[in-house]
Amino acid sequence: MKPKVIVYKKVDKKVLDYIQNTCEVVYFEKLDSQTYPIFLKELKDAQGILGSGLKVDKELLNQAPHLKIVCNTSVGYDNLNISELTKQGIMATNTPDVLNETVADSIFGLLLSTARRMPELDCWVKTGQWESNLEEKWFGVDVHHKKLGIIGMGGIGTAIAKRAHLGFDMEIVYHNRSRNEDAEQKYGATYCSMEDLLKQSDFVCLMTPLTPKTEKIMGKREFELMKDTAIFINGSRGKTVDEDALIHALQMGEILAAGLDVFVQEPIKLDNPLLSMKNVVTLPHIGSATYETRLKMATLAATNLVAGLQGEIPATLINREVKSK
Ligand code: 8YV
Repeated sequence: MKPKVIVYKKVDKKVLDYIQNTCEVVYFEKLDSQTYPIFLKELKDAQGILGSGLKVDKELLNQAPHLKIVCNTSVGYDNLNISELTKQGIMATNTPDVLNETVADSIFGLLLSTARRMPELDCWVKTGQWESNLEEKWFGVDVHHKKLGIIGMGGIGTAIAKRAHLGFDMEIVYHNRSRNEDAEQKYGATYCSMEDLLKQSDFVCLMTPLTPKTEKIMGKREFELMKDTAIFINGSRGKTVDEDALIHALQMGEILAAGLDVFVQEPIKLDNPLLSMKNVVTLPHIGSATYETRLKMATLAATNLVAGLQGEIPATLINREVKSK
């Protein structure tokens, strides 16, 4: 009898076919008010689920007595209650590394377009306002040879450091739970305290996972420490930032501008003040959103799912202690 699994996010047909070779698949392109009640029904005898963003906590697990594995199609797993999953002996997997270069492209693109005001000027040109030479009031700020502070120097942070140092002659300072010798040796990154990083950086790029320790790691005090000529970039999760403090810092001119790929509420609400600020570039969480990388992420998640249900140790298992029991 094939194990029953639920795929609750749109994936490439190749990935679905691969899973269907060994599993009975219930497929939802997305979970919404219509599909979610059906998803809960199907969960009752499911052994595995695959997707991203769904809050998997004790309450949901109580409705999934046969669950053996939960596979995120994302590197971030702040949606998973890992300690509860481990307590119940359920494997949890994510998709690290396969997205590092793509997310680094997105975030560096966001940094460049914020510094050089590209979305604003794209709109200015398209609304027919370009009538003569560009006036100084539309000038941006240089990126090359500036100092980039990276908070969270993991795989994606390191890929950003590579682009910045080798491609734009930027000096890299970083703050992280542990030293990253690879980034230090290859890209001249200098480890420093969060405070020093905020005080000296021209660009502050937040790339930490969302954990109880990093929730609102950037708040009122942190934005006050930044230079008023500095630009803030968030490529992590919305909740790593105190969004009201960010809005205040921008309104008060405590920082120059911000480039944001993530928000406390996604999709962001239209009445959020960030959307009416000219010096804020907003993107709809596009970090890993390329055809190639999303396929790699779904493929890795699918191989984790099948491996876990065939009694093997999935390649990117988060809670390894579950398999050592
Ligand atoms: C995901 C991401 O695509 O991998 C992550 O942690 O944030 C993105 O790459 C996103 O989580 C999809 O919901």
